[in-house]
Amino acid sequence: MSQVIGVPRETAAEEKRVATVPEVVEKLIKLGFKVKVQAGAGDAANFADDTYRVAGAEVVADAAALWAASDIVFKVRGPTPEEVGLMRAGQTLVSFLWPAQNPELMQQLAARKVTVLAIDSLPRMLSRAQKMDALTSMAGIAGYRAVIEAAHHFGRFLTGQITAAGKVPPAKVFIAGAGVAGLAAIGTAVGLGAIVRANDTRAEVADQVQSMGGEFVKVDYEEEGSGGGGYARVMSEGFQQAQREMYAKQAREVDIIITTALIPGKPAPKLITSEMVKSMKPGSVIVDLAAEQGGNCELTEPGKAVVRQGVTIVGYTDLVSRLARQSSTLYSTNLFRLAEELCKTKDGVINVNMEDDAIRGLTVIKDGAITWPPPPLKLPAPPPAAAKAAAAPAAKAHGHGAGEPMAGGALAGISIAAALLLWLIGAYAPAAFLGHFTVFVLGCFVGYMVIWNVTPALHTPLMSVTNAISSIIAIGALIQIAPPAAAAAGAGGRPDELIRWIAVAGIALTCINMFGGFAVTRRMLAMFRK
Ligand code: NAI
Repeated sequence: MSQVIGVPRETAAEEKRVATVPEVVEKLIKLGFKVKVQAGAGDAANFADDTYRVAGAEVVADAAALWAASDIVFKVRGPTPEEVGLMRAGQTLVSFLWPAQNPELMQQLAARKVTVLAIDSLPRMLSRAQKMDALTSMAGIAGYRAVIEAAHHFGRFLTGQITAAGKVPPAKVFIAGAGVAGLAAIGTAVGLGAIVRANDTRAEVADQVQSMGGEFVKVDYEEEGSGGGGYARVMSEGFQQAQREMYAKQAREVDIIITTALIPGKPAPKLITSEMVKSMKPGSVIVDLAAEQGGNCELTEPGKAVVRQGVTIVGYTDLVSRLARQSSTLYSTNLFRLAEELCKTKDGVINVNMEDDAIRGLTVIKDGAITWPPPPLKLPAPPPAAAKAAAAPAAKAHGHGAGEPMAGGALAGISIAAALLLWLIGAYAPAAFLGHFTVFVLGCFVGYMVIWNVTPALHTPLMSVTNAISSIIAIGALIQIAPPAAAAAGAGGRPDELIRWIAVAGIALTCINMFGGFAVTRRMLAMFRK
């Protein structure tokens, strides 16, 4: 018997998102579920009731009827006390919940004997979980929208221009914190033509900043800022002092600052002081994404855009909702991926499998029992460095750097057979053949050693390079087909028919290799182009 997924209308003020969009309704139905949507649930995100009906959902007029009819409820924000009151034993709720910050809500939900999957508690370090990672998809939208808000409040172009009326320099943008939101902001600001700089306490993001087109600005103080799992840690007083000096310099130089710095579970670090705001050029803009957690700027007022010392400080906490259609689509896709994991049998019935690491991490209440926090994840330990170092020379000695070392017996057998073959060829083959054959054997050996030791990740670029080798083969084959005029005339004969056909086959194979190499390279490059 198929279960019903219910999608209520969000009740929080300023929340414009909806947990399921019509496109995803169709996919959920294919998974075997029935879908019911509260009337008007998608209005604020521009998804009309009729589009849900066309997709196959039933539109239910009122919230109480919808909650009562649902086995599983998909929501964006955690439920209000009234909504908790509508829940019944055995129901499953999927939404943002932030269990650490909402212990009371957790108790109320547990008392209703329900199961709750908090999408914010997904173990993000599992690569399998990435398709369900709503925090990442929402942060990317927030970073994009932060730049759009900044451009809206900024009185100039972001891109540089040379016009008849004069030269306009590009705006300078500084991004504090290059996590998901920060990197999205860098990409957006670069796309609009600004000069973008960024800083983060985690040194490993420097490359990512550069790959998005930004410049990484280092703090002049040696200290590693990574706290594990892709998150930062609180830095020493010495580092913070050096960082403040660097930020003060940036504040004097740039036109726009976007701050995204945060360590989960900690108040937002105060990175932009009121003196720094004062030192900025009039008309500059600060967008503080951490406003909800206290703000990265001392003068931020959560939820508002205010002008202080001639600088506009934007502290909106609903950036994602300001792009409601986009964020609803991404969020509901994340929930659909979760539904696929919960319903592997595709029969419209979910199985909250606590043995599955991703599902275990998400499940904060199971049938009324609080299961949060989850036990630490057992990630596969990286092989110890010493063991790796010892294994490498052994593998190389067997000429098998990229694979498993060959068994001793098999290797000895092959060696004896090869030696015997070589002896036979040496004893009976004509002298002219022997010279060519020696070059051929050495060529095979060198080629084997070169290719076998290449990391698999580099095989495709290597294939492009081998086009050069292929062209040598092609030239050799062409010479065989049409020998130099003098030789042909002098020797009085055309080359052997068999050799000519072998040369033709050689050219055909080489062409496949060469054009294949070009095609693969093209495809690879296309993957990196916008
Ligand atoms: P994230 O954890 O991926 O990125 C935060 C980055 O800040 C990390 O790279 C971290 O290393 C860095 N950081 C931490 N302390 C720092 C310090 N003292 N100095 C410099 N860098 C530091 O987080 P994500 O997902 O990018 O979110 C960023 C912020 O955006 C969060 O505060 C989040 O709550 C907020 N957000 C706001 C929204 C809104 O509507 N205003 C919507 C979505 C997210």
